[in-house]
Amino acid sequence: MDTDQQKWDERYRTKALVLPTPMPFVSNSLSLAQPGCVLDLACGDAASALYFARRGFDVVAADISGEALERVHYFARMLGVSIRTVQLDLDSDDWLDILNEVHPGLINNIVVTRYKPSQALWHQLAQRLAPEGMLMLTTYNMQQHQLHGFNADYCLQPAEYTGVDPLLSLRYSASVKDGDDRLDEYIFCRPDGA
Ligand SMILES: C[S@@+](CC[C@H](N)C(=O)[O-])C[C@H]1O[C@@H](n2cnc3c(N)ncnc32)[C@H](O)[C@@H]1O
Repeated sequence: MDTDQQKWDERYRTKALVLPTPMPFVSNSLSLAQPGCVLDLACGDAASALYFARRGFDVVAADISGEALERVHYFARMLGVSIRTVQLDLDSDDWLDILNEVHPGLINNIVVTRYKPSQALWHQLAQRLAPEGMLMLTTYNMQQHQLHGFNADYCLQPAEYTGVDPLLSLRYSASVKDGDDRLDEYIFCRPDGA
């Protein structure tokens, strides 16, 4: 079994079953979401997926950890909402094929929280976004490394994804402090015709 999967499975297996709350960045951005589907990528407990599912979006939650996805099913049942889940490894070559089995076609909204996409993944996400679609990313920035020693490989460099993909147009970006966490927030859209 993949070591990343083992590590995360173990974390989720031993974590208390407490309904997750969405990050303020996600709930504050609801008005920018496009009607249709939402993909919560590297979803974990799927706070974002649950938030959008409660508001009537067609939601897919994806993660490498089967244990995380079991929890997502549990929370979805608790709230009486429907979420499709898919177990995949974003570092693999076939993750898009696996996603296609659950959700073929373009995606209106992609949400990534507390996970740093690789550059290759970023371009794949841009391609998969529907016209007018929204791509939201928030995760730790380099201050999290400098202040707390968090692994720099998982931290965003300043403006790391700004202007990287020609399909994407930046709508919003900010660096924020959330308790002890230092995070960067981005919202990109894919203009119609891009
Ligand atoms: C820090 S957690 C964030 C979870 C959730 N997005 C949140 O904000 O609470 C990182 C998540 O990425 C998932 N993950 C790590 N490596 C992955 C990979 N290669 N493919 C898919 N998911 C992965 C983990 O299982 C974990 O759920």
